[in-house]
Amino acid sequence: MPIPELVIASANPDKVAEIAVVLENLAVLIPRPEGMPDVVEDGNNLEDNARLKAVAVCEFAGRPAVADDTGLEIDVLNGAPGVYSARFAGNDATYQQNVEKVLAELEGVQMGQRTARFKTVAIVRYPDGKELIANGIVEGHISQSPSGEGGFGYDPIFVPVEGDGATFAQMGHEKHKFSHRGRAFRSLGHMLSST
Ligand code: IMP
Repeated sequence: MPIPELVIASANPDKVAEIAVVLENLAVLIPRPEGMPDVVEDGNNLEDNARLKAVAVCEFAGRPAVADDTGLEIDVLNGAPGVYSARFAGNDATYQQNVEKVLAELEGVQMGQRTARFKTVAIVRYPDGKELIANGIVEGHISQSPSGEGGFGYDPIFVPVEGDGATFAQMGHEKHKFSHRGRAFRSLGHMLSST
């Protein structure tokens, strides 16, 4: 069976690089068309936002498209930043500003209370309206301070339960073994190869 070609909705090179590794040999990723307007991500949850992006890119390109949306849920913040993870510290916040805001909000919070999880929803959308959908979750906690140079976003402060105490930013490709995105896209990859 030929490897399917999917137009990738994300223009974030950090995310695209991770997805390319996880979907290696399972899909060929085509960059999102130049000139495509930004999709307004105003859904109420990760699935709505992933679908908004997948549908928009699929319609614009006229080809099957793949999109994902990710959120970090911190228990002591009642699930924040969640769907607002990209703009927790403001609309044009950098990764570092978002990390600093999380650490400031958790100041004085003891280790046992710093539980958190990443969730990813990944969707493949076809021009005929058919859809594949997969979820990935990783449980962990927010460290007291940033560690590591790898990864992106909140990786320097997220420690997965399945690891050895390292943050995602201290891992290389090992991140994908445990990560929300690794899990969601491996699951999607299985669906693609059995469709
Ligand atoms: P998005 O909506 O899927 O682009 O993700 C929202 C935000 O969550 C991003 O801007 C990052 O700050 C953060 N994020 C997404 N995925 C990861 C990850 O794998 N590690 C750390 N932070 C992430």
